[in-house]
Amino acid sequence: MTPDIAPIAWTGDSLRLIDQTLLPARLEYRDVADVDDLVDAIKRLVVRGAPALGVAGALGVVVALRQADRESWDATTRDAAIARIREARPTAVNLAAGVDRVRPLVDEGADAVLAEALAFLDEDVRGNRAIGRHGAAWLTARTGDRPLRLLTHCNAGALATAGWGTALGVVRELHARDRVETVYADETRPLLQGSRLTAWELEQMGVPYYVQPDGAAAGTILGGHVDAAIVGADRVAANGDTANKVGTLAVALACAAAGIPFLVAAPWSTVDLATPDGARIPIEQRAPAEILANGGTPVAPPGARAHNPAFDVTPARLVTALITETGVLEPARGRTPAEEAAEKRER
Ligand code: MRU
Repeated sequence: MTPDIAPIAWTGDSLRLIDQTLLPARLEYRDVADVDDLVDAIKRLVVRGAPALGVAGALGVVVALRQADRESWDATTRDAAIARIREARPTAVNLAAGVDRVRPLVDEGADAVLAEALAFLDEDVRGNRAIGRHGAAWLTARTGDRPLRLLTHCNAGALATAGWGTALGVVRELHARDRVETVYADETRPLLQGSRLTAWELEQMGVPYYVQPDGAAAGTILGGHVDAAIVGADRVAANGDTANKVGTLAVALACAAAGIPFLVAAPWSTVDLATPDGARIPIEQRAPAEILANGGTPVAPPGARAHNPAFDVTPARLVTALITETGVLEPARGRTPAEEAAEKRER
C-alpha cells in the first residue's frame, strides 16, 4: 500500500525520514544509518508523532543491527544501543512498543527484524485507513450528512504515522465524502506542529482551514464554531485517560463545556494496558529554550524559569470516543480500553 505522504521508509541501506523540522519551507529527506543520528532525529522531532515513532523504533533496531555488524559490536553494546532508541522519548508508548515488537527477532539477524518492521509499517497505514472509516461513520451517525467544522490540535496526520494519519485520517475520509466545511488547526506551541505540519497537510488535501493560536481554541468552541474536536494520542492508559500534545486537555474541557464531541483517534499500539491511569503516564519535559526564546532570540527575562511539559493528560470522562482500527469505544460513558481488550481476548 503506498501512502500519499511517506514520512518513513527503508531505502535498502538506511532509514529515510522526512525532516519534519524543515516543513513547510522545505520537503527534504534525511537518511539515518547510525544509532546516534537516529536518537538525535527522535529527540529533535525530525521524526515525531506516536505511530511514526513506533515504526521508526522498529526500523531503528535494523539500523542498530547493521551498525553492530559494521563496527563489530558485542551483544552488550548492541543491546545498549537498542535501549537508547527505545528511551529517546518517554511519553509515546509506541516507540518502546515498536522496539519491543521486533526485539525477539534480534538473534535471527537484521533481515528478520527488517521484515517484521516493514510489516508493522504496512499495518500502521492500513490501521489508519480503518480509523478514518470508523471515525467518519461515528461522526456521521451523530451529526447527519452536513459538512462539519472540526478542530484539531498538534499534528496527527500522515506525517505523524507511517502514512494517512489518525485524527487527520478521519478528516481525510470525511473530506473524500464532501463532509468537511473547515478545520481549525491549533498552532500548537512551542514547536508549531499545527501551523507548520497540520496546515501543510490540509493544504495538500485541499481542505479549507484556519490556523489559530492555541489560546483561541476554547473561544472558538464555546462560540459555536466547531461541531467536534478530533486529536491523536501518545498513550492511552487502561482506564481511557489519554496523553497528547500539551494543550489538548484545554480543548477537551472546552468541548465538554460546549456539549460537543471530543474524539481521540489512535491505533491500538498507542493503548498501554500496563499503565493503569493517566497519573502514571511519563510526561516529557523539554528544553527551556523552546519557550524562553523565539527563533533563537530570547523573549523572557534572563533568569526566567521554564515549565515546558510536551504533553498533558485528558481524563477518560472527557473523551467522548476513542477511535481505533477495530472500532469505537466511548470512555466518557464508562467503557475502558481494558474492558475492550479483555472482551477481544475472549472473542
Ligand atoms: O511532540 P510530538 O510532535 O511528537 O507530539 C505528537 C502528538 O502529540 C500527536 O498528537 C500524537 O503523537 C498522535 S500522532 C498520530
